Amino acid sequence: MDIETYAQSIHFYADDVPPFLIRTLGTRQWTSFFDVGCGDGSLLNALKIRKILNSDKKVFAADLSQTRIERVKAIDSSYQCFVSPADDLKAIETGSIDFVVSTQVIEHVPDDEKMAAELARVLKPGGTLFLSTVYKKWYGWYFYRCNGKWTLDPTHLREYADETRLYEFMKKNGLQLESQEKHLFKFPAVDFVLKRIGVGTDVYKHRLLRRVRKLQVPIVGYYDWQMVWKKPR
Ligand SMILES: C[S@@+](CC[C@H](N)C(=O)[O-])C[C@H]1O[C@@H](n2cnc3c(N)ncnc32)[C@H](O)[C@@H]1O
Repeated sequence: MDIETYAQSIHFYADDVPPFLIRTLGTRQWTSFFDVGCGDGSLLNALKIRKILNSDKKVFAADLSQTRIERVKAIDSSYQCFVSPADDLKAIETGSIDFVVSTQVIEHVPDDEKMAAELARVLKPGGTLFLSTVYKKWYGWYFYRCNGKWTLDPTHLREYADETRLYEFMKKNGLQLESQEKHLFKFPAVDFVLKRIGVGTDVYKHRLLRRVRKLQVPIVGYYDWQMVWKKPR
């Protein structure tokens, strides 16, 4: 599916931040923050509302979709936003970022090995990478199709079924695994309806909808695999 067609499927601003990410951000010093494959900026928006990304932080955001990047610019005009493939982050200097985040992106990227190298390249020595992706157990099934396989999303080029591939790429680029967690994916049932009726990113400003959103359907066999990697000094 073309990236701009995919961008018609809006990411809602629903204050979803992985608790593991909040804990990690709270336990280290950082000023520059880079969201790679930021989508419509749901994570950036949530971190801004929580005052974790305040005015003393330098925020960078990149996504392959121009449409999504325009939505991110509307969150905060001070964010430095780029339309860029995650496996070729030319706009960002080597060793310049304290904290890099990439959530649910690497499974979309044609060259995941090159993306791993780029994430490692832009990190400062001593910097942190929070990476999350899909982890699929052998019994996992979802109804989308990509490249002849059943997938959780129609644009997933791969879904990781073990740790070896990503561990190898990260370690090859000198990163060290600090910790990791896996959480069963749950999908807010109301999102299905909201996406079909074509509402905007801000729909969850309504308190009632935020309550309804707590009704979540577990997706059997699919995990949100979250990792914290460190670049040694
Ligand atoms: C599932 S969304 C995740 C968005 C966001 N990180 C989040 O967690 O809400 C995947 C994002 O990856 C972007 N994407 C897909 N292929 C990409 C690529 N090769 N380089 C950079 N971004 C890409 C899509 O445009 C989309 O915004």
